[in-house]
Amino acid sequence: MSTVDELDPATRGGLAEAWGLSPHTGFAPLGNGLINRTLLVTDDGRRRVLQCLNVNVFRDPALVMRNCRAVTAHLGRERAAGRYDYSVLELVPTLAGEPAAVLADGSWWRMYDHVPDTATHETADAPSLAFEAGRGFGAFAAALAGLDRGIVGEVIPHFHDPAKRFATFREVLAADRAGRADDAIATCDTAAQAFEDLLAHWRTLLDAGLPWRITHNDCKLNNLLFDDADRAMCVIDLDTVMPGSALFDFGDMCRTLLSPVPEDSTDLERVKPRPDYFAALARGYVEGTGSMLTQLERDNLAFAARMITGVIGLRFLTDYLDGDRYFRVGHPAHNLERARNQFALYAALTAQADALQALVPDPAG
Ligand SMILES: Nc1ncnc2c1ncn2[C@@H]1O[C@H](COP(=O)(O)OP(=O)(O)OP(=O)(O)O)[C@@H](O)[C@H]1O
Ligand SMILES: [Mg+2]
Repeated sequence: MSTVDELDPATRGGLAEAWGLSPHTGFAPLGNGLINRTLLVTDDGRRRVLQCLNVNVFRDPALVMRNCRAVTAHLGRERAAGRYDYSVLELVPTLAGEPAAVLADGSWWRMYDHVPDTATHETADAPSLAFEAGRGFGAFAAALAGLDRGIVGEVIPHFHDPAKRFATFREVLAADRAGRADDAIATCDTAAQAFEDLLAHWRTLLDAGLPWRITHNDCKLNNLLFDDADRAMCVIDLDTVMPGSALFDFGDMCRTLLSPVPEDSTDLERVKPRPDYFAALARGYVEGTGSMLTQLERDNLAFAARMITGVIGLRFLTDYLDGDRYFRVGHPAHNLERARNQFALYAALTAQADALQALVPDPAG
């Protein structure tokens, strides 16, 4: 994790110049985000959040910032019109009126107002948190339904696309650059079988006109700020907001909220969806999205859970085969263990798909 001391004088000077910060400004690390570097900035008692964009992940930071500006401006208008009841991240432009500052070393920085009196949760220990997450991310997607899709660009092409992820997996498996294919053969077989079924159903959904929307695409619990009564207050981490399917967002919430153990647990007996969490999440999402979801989307919420669990499981497996280039690992088999965990969850979600889908409420109910 970054510390204040690592903010070198040139960076500090560049930031101060870009935003007109006083020499007394304090910088402190904030949160435990994995992608960008996040600092709390205190200047004259005023708190702001400064982030250095990870340009290895976001290859087109200018596009990320155009998206952030369009999305926050639209949500602000929706809130002002009484159609969105959550707080909205507010970008603080540079003195030159830009949404981000590019420093002499090429680093990209942007600033948001700090949302006061809030905290994040790393894990859900009550179904009520799953309800809040579903409602919060659901309302976020519904509020963006009125924003022209052409205005928000594809920041990471094919991010959750199961067909593209499977094609990449097959290429990496065939190349076997890290010489790990033999160790992973059973998991690769499981993945290939899962994807045969999953891709066939995904294609039927695309053929049936599954809507393309503006979605968040990183609906982890810790990308929501909660108040001290554990009500969701504000959706954060807008860097991956781009065109996608509602099934991506709902599926990723299921993947991260339903199992009682973390995604790298090797205690596979315990890797199972908790139906009460699914019921609460679905109730929150249906309530938050209001009239947005089509019948096709609603009928496929349990499918979404296993699809995204399969996609992320496949990405862990692909990264293992490729020598751990993307996901940070603590030990050599870490990505393989994550993949096994996710495919165990996939199997349990598949076995329980009908029972889970039956828990999805009608929009009016
Ligand atoms: N506007 C804000 N107000 C208060 N806290 C914030 C704000 N923005 C970010 N945070 C805190 O900083 C943390 C990291 O922010 P963010 O999720 O944007 O970073 P990230 O590196 O993109 O995260 P991830 O690893 O999820 O991709 C959050 O979890 C939250 O604790
Ligand atoms: Mg985050």
